[in-house]
Amino acid sequence: MPVLVVGGAGYIGSHAAHALKRHGYEPIIYDNLSTGHSELAAGFEFITGDGFDSAKLNPILRRVDAVMHFAAHAYVGESVQNPRKYFHNNLLGGMALLNAVLDSPVRKLIFSSTCAVYGTPPSVPITEEMPRQPVNPYGVTKLMFERALEAYDHAYGLRYVSFRYFNAAGADESAEIGEIHDPETHLIPSAFEAIHGKRPALDIFGDDYPTPDGTCIRDYIHVTDLAEAHVAGLEHLAHGKSLAANLGTGHGHSVREVLSTIERVTGKRVPHRIAPRRPGDPAELVADPRLAEKTFNWKARRSLEDIVTTAWKWDQTRR
Ligand code: UFG
Repeated sequence: MPVLVVGGAGYIGSHAAHALKRHGYEPIIYDNLSTGHSELAAGFEFITGDGFDSAKLNPILRRVDAVMHFAAHAYVGESVQNPRKYFHNNLLGGMALLNAVLDSPVRKLIFSSTCAVYGTPPSVPITEEMPRQPVNPYGVTKLMFERALEAYDHAYGLRYVSFRYFNAAGADESAEIGEIHDPETHLIPSAFEAIHGKRPALDIFGDDYPTPDGTCIRDYIHVTDLAEAHVAGLEHLAHGKSLAANLGTGHGHSVREVLSTIERVTGKRVPHRIAPRRPGDPAELVADPRLAEKTFNWKARRSLEDIVTTAWKWDQTRR
């Protein structure tokens, strides 16, 4: 079955394309390469274009049975500094894509949403019923797209799965694809940069949070586990029911725990220093993943150690 993977030359999209291929689907990657990398699309049919280009999208949408939408800007801090960029690309570009889908025969769509739609949750673990009150423009754009999907499902029968990712991390076990961001802001690749001396030290953003060691707790989920969930989501859509579900492990790790795992796995010291809190970082974000587990017969199987091991292997291929 052919599946259009929009944003398939990005970090999570490329892992989803690989998972689809492993499961016998025929992914077609569509990406405008604004933040994607053509090397991550190697081995796939690859079309350069963006969500606004309906003339380009229309014939492609006639060749596929489903769409996965990963194309978005995803830096929380940047979205606060430059919301116009986020509303333009994530919301207007996303809506243009969604309307092109609606104008085509395709009625199945999988959307990359985020735990940022919850903002600062009333408690953890976070369930899907908790209020969606994003605290930054990035989260707002994702929530607005979720809302559009709900309305299109109701009015037009366009079926969707919105996956609310927690902290995607790690790389494909093959080390052929992995995380590439410029600039790099995510914890694990930033710690690797500190190991390599590409930055003087890893800044720990705050050690005075109300957590056992004072550093923020996040639910790190292996990108391959995320990718596998998308395949399960597609199979679920064959039964015609839309859904929004968290994708996480249900277990949190502090920044300090991540750093000690990195030191154990790599055998190298991570130079680090305590820095001020990063604005907008909640103390603790951990998923309740039971809805996805029950619905899709899926579970995140890979540990933090697996995340660091595969991320390090990928990092070594790029030195
Ligand atoms: N951190 C540091 N130092 C760094 C980088 C990160 O201490 O140099 C800490 C952060 O404060 C946070 C944790 O490590 O506690 C993880 O930070 P990341 O930047 O790796 O990831 P985020 O949790 O900020 O971002 C993720 C997704 C976003 C999503 C967000 C929702 O990447 O797309 O979760 O909160 F919006």
